[in-house]
Amino acid sequence: MKLNAFERAAMNNPVRAAHQHHREAAWFRRLSGGGLSGQQVLEVGCGRGVGAEVILDRLGAAWVAAFDLDESMVELAQRRLHGRPVQLSVGDVCEIAQPTASVDAVVDFGIIHHVPDWQQAVAEIARVLRPGGLVLFEEVPREMLDTWAFRTFTVHPHENRFQPGDFADELARNGLHGSGEIERHLGGMVFVGAVRKTEPAP
Ligand SMILES: C[S@@+](CC[C@H](N)C(=O)[O-])C[C@H]1O[C@@H](n2cnc3c(N)ncnc32)[C@H](O)[C@@H]1O
Repeated sequence: MKLNAFERAAMNNPVRAAHQHHREAAWFRRLSGGGLSGQQVLEVGCGRGVGAEVILDRLGAAWVAAFDLDESMVELAQRRLHGRPVQLSVGDVCEIAQPTASVDAVVDFGIIHHVPDWQQAVAEIARVLRPGGLVLFEEVPREMLDTWAFRTFTVHPHENRFQPGDFADELARNGLHGSGEIERHLGGMVFVGAVRKTEPAP
């Protein structure tokens, strides 16, 4: 589901970019045990491309493939990331173009709560990740989407939303397991975590 004008303005501004570059990058660096040095990373729902910058410049990835459902966001990302080692496309997280087991890590900066069939998004992320690969996620819980402010100013699917525990259970059903607790930040507005895809038994 694409953003409405209000949420687009809330996402596409210098304050949010600074927050991603500093605070969110620090959460992901810690949760990943030091970053994604030299890795081939997929960013789902890249918006205007700040996340891809963070993945390259703060987490140390070598290369990023990034896509978004909204063509106009991909155009903004193309302008921002010109000349960087990033492959951009329009795409749907429920039908990811990447081959199975082809990326070292997947990063989700707050998009899966926008997806009506979010369980399919999780299954697709698990499919494209190589065994042993890492998923870093930042998501918005159901209780926040149910608040007056979110219901009034933003547009999200109302049915079939998730709390952190539901999200962790769905990740685990797809072979993605966390070593630490899911953390809540920004007064409970978001939760973040890291999970790894199970390696096949030797
Ligand atoms: C809250 S914004 C976050 C954007 C960006 N990750 C950021 O942190 O600034 C959610 C983004 O997810 C995208 N999106 C929504 N549904 C999607 C889907 N099914 N597949 C890919 N992207 C999607 C929207 O177009 C929007 O750019």
